[in-house]
Amino acid sequence: MPQLNTPKQERTVEPISVGELADAYTHIRRFTESLAAPLETEDYVVQSMPDVSPTRWHLAHTTWFLETFVLGDGAPGYKPFDPAFTELFNSYYNAVGQQFPRDRRGLLSRPTVREVFAYRKHVDDHMSEWLAGDGPGMAPEKLPIVELGLHHEQQHQELILTDIKHVFSCNPLHPIYRPGATARDGVSQPVAPIEWIHHDEGVRRIGYVGGGFSHDNEHPAHDELVHDFDIANRLITNGEYLQFMAGGGYERSELWLSDGWATVRDQGRRAPLYWVERDGAWHEFTLSGLRPLDPTEPVCHVSYYEADAYARFFGVYLPRENAWETAAADVPLEGRFAEDGHFHPRPAPRTGATGPVQMFGDLWEWTCSPYVAYPGYRPQPGALGEYNGKFMVNQMTLRGGSCATPLTHIRRTYRNFFPPNARWQFTGIRLAR
Ligand SMILES: [Fe+2]
Repeated sequence: MPQLNTPKQERTVEPISVGELADAYTHIRRFTESLAAPLETEDYVVQSMPDVSPTRWHLAHTTWFLETFVLGDGAPGYKPFDPAFTELFNSYYNAVGQQFPRDRRGLLSRPTVREVFAYRKHVDDHMSEWLAGDGPGMAPEKLPIVELGLHHEQQHQELILTDIKHVFSCNPLHPIYRPGATARDGVSQPVAPIEWIHHDEGVRRIGYVGGGFSHDNEHPAHDELVHDFDIANRLITNGEYLQFMAGGGYERSELWLSDGWATVRDQGRRAPLYWVERDGAWHEFTLSGLRPLDPTEPVCHVSYYEADAYARFFGVYLPRENAWETAAADVPLEGRFAEDGHFHPRPAPRTGATGPVQMFGDLWEWTCSPYVAYPGYRPQPGALGEYNGKFMVNQMTLRGGSCATPLTHIRRTYRNFFPPNARWQFTGIRLAR
């Protein structure tokens, strides 16, 4: 048995230059606003379920993050835009103070959308002045917090999309966020069968190694024994999921974890979120509106329980987090976010692929690993220690990154996490055995 390395908390982070940070700041902040651009004012304020936040809240909260942790905490001469926003747009930081209840964000008609854009401009003006070196000096220790604030903003860019998708899905008019390509025409376009990629047992380095940005939950990098496994070269398609449904997948209690089965019964679940049956044919609500289900696209908006039941149906299982990371080691990072203007995962390949596909930039992939700390993990001190660490219970880890994840936000070691019943994110299924 090879010797396992003892994890160490220390990590080397190459400081990002102020110039790079200033460019990224402008790009990312503007991009957030471009995501809101297709919306009408009425769209900005709706909260369609407790997990969903109104677009207006995302625009304000990301600004609050920068104001609270960068400007409001030591920037010489900075005056908050409105002190009442400290509580209103605090998501969950107890060290900062009270928070307006998450499930009531949709009750707020004020501040108006226009005022929130003015709030963004107020903070952006101060941040840009500082990053350009034109204003009073600020401590260089703030630079990593600005960088964190931009990655935080990118997380919320994805949430803006997933949340407005849910909001629109509740509207019988089926509003279109952005017109997109229609589904591929054929009902029976063949896709290549799954290929299984084998990995031998071995000790693997797990967690982030390198000098760039990473979240604290990707640390410390450490060695893990990864047992041998096969992993599917691609994601499960809508067509394959239809076979699970036709085979009684939602009626057979033996396929389901207890909590998942309770949800199937209590909520009458019988298909993935956003699937709509019309005239005997399945349709799918997308950010490009309601369209016929494309059997070659990966099945999307499934819960952990659905992914797990699907795997049991075929006598296999979902990959462990460390196996997924091992399988992704040599896969180039990809992301299609916004570049082509559509937010759809890519269809399965029609011909046999060599190596894994759809690992980055299509769907977040459920793993069977609970979201817990790596050995030796310590949250960073202060309020920002609440960013990731306090959620390390009752959630499952997802890997990869979706068609709504910005490319510069995708990493092999990135650990996303959601409760096992959550379905409103772009989540899909990759099998292992
Ligand atoms: Fe946040």
